[in-house]
This record gives sequence, structure tokens and C-alpha cells, in this order.
Amino acid sequence: MATQTMQNILSVPEAIESRHSIRKFKQEPIPQEDLNKIFELVRLSPSAWNLQPWRFHVVTDTTVKEKLKEAAYGQQQVTSAPAVVMVISDMEDVIENLPETVHPGLSPDRQQEEVANLSSFFGGMSVEERGQWGLTQTNIALGVLLVTIQGLGYASVPMLGFDQEKVKEILGLKEHVKFASMVPFGIADQEGYEHHRFSLEKIVTFH
Ligand SMILES: Cc1cc2nc3c(=O)[nH]c(=O)nc-3n(C[C@H](O)[C@H](O)[C@H](O)COP(=O)(O)O)c2cc1C
Repeated sequence: MATQTMQNILSVPEAIESRHSIRKFKQEPIPQEDLNKIFELVRLSPSAWNLQPWRFHVVTDTTVKEKLKEAAYGQQQVTSAPAVVMVISDMEDVIENLPETVHPGLSPDRQQEEVANLSSFFGGMSVEERGQWGLTQTNIALGVLLVTIQGLGYASVPMLGFDQEKVKEILGLKEHVKFASMVPFGIADQEGYEHHRFSLEKIVTFH
């Protein structure tokens, strides 16, 4: 059974057009069912070789949110939001568990071959290079997350204005992980700013 918020599901164009960064939220908790629905959809995001390096830490605990706000230089939206999603990339976890990423429909021989190819490709990179590569993929899931949150009747603000080392300490994250964004979200209690975007002429070239 859908919750009241989720009975107002938006189409993809409606979700994209109505999304604005929101920094003040209603003080209403997000039902677990809605959180599950959001991540069920976001986990369908595409990634190169289907490596899915994204990991999500969802913070609803008030004390932890206070600490995150401090790490985010006091930005109020962190504690105003009923939930804060930390979107991180963990390529080392991917590399350690490569067989999990290979499609089970492939023959055992092809699966082994795939794992060997990926091992050799990423084995030639440093942890830092792999981390940056994983981040490019994780940002795809971040985009999907923002649209999904909006489409299911909530609002959000993506944030990178925080001290990453402090956040690693607060959430007990491994040193090598990379951050795509901190995303406070909930039901909007303000309107965002009007869209200000470049013209199509500037950003699109038709050949
Ligand atoms: C990766 C990223 C990091 C951002 N960091 C912050 C931040 O730390 N604090 C904040 O208030 N907004 C932050 N923003 C929000 C942007 O300012 C906002 O998306 C942009 O101005 C466009 O406005 P809109 O989201 O309302 O369309 C960030 C956005 C992105 C995508």
C-alpha cells in the first residue's frame, strides 16, 4: 500500500521540471516503505560493466544529523531534513567482490573470463584512480536518486559543502571511499529558487 506522499507520483518530465534544491523541510519522518521504494528504483541505475560502485548511508538519527550539520559548516538543511542520504562510491568493495557483478546468465567460462578482464583492467590502476573512476559511475545514481525522490513526492538538496574526513569519521566509513553527495530530503516546506540554466544553443550542438 502506497503512503500518502507516494500516491502523488510524478511523471519523469514533471519530476525533472519541478525539482529545485530545497533547504527547509516539514518535520515528518519518512516511512520505511518509501525509503525502500526509493532505493529499489535507484539501484536500477546503469554503470559501466554494471559494477554498481554506489553505496548509500541513510541517516535519520537526530544526534548523527547534528554531527553531519557541523561537518557541513552549519548548513541548516542537514538537520531540517528528516533523512540525509550520504551517496558514496566504494570501488575497493567492487574489486574485492568482482564475481558478484558478472551477469549470472553468462556461462561459467565467460563469467571467469569477465572477472579476469576486470581484475586486470582495475589492477593496473591505483586506489585513487579507481576511486575517481567509481565516482563517475556513482554520480549517475546520484542523478537518478534526485529525480526519484522528487518523483515520489519528496524534495531534496544535493550537497558537497562538507568536510569529507569528518563525515568519514562520523559514519565510520573507510578511508578510500569517495563522496558523490550528501542529500538531505523530506517533504518541502519552502519553494526553491526559479531555474536558472544555460540556453539549449549553448549546451547542445546538433550534427
Ligand atoms: C554536487 C552538488 C553539490 C552541491 N553542494 C551544495 C551545498 O553544499 N549546499 C547547498 O546549499 N547547495 C548545494 N548544491 C545545490 C546547487 O547550488 C543547486 O543544485 C544549483 O544552484 C541549481 O539549483 P536547483 O538545484 O534548485 O535547480 C549542490 C549541488 C550539486 C549538484
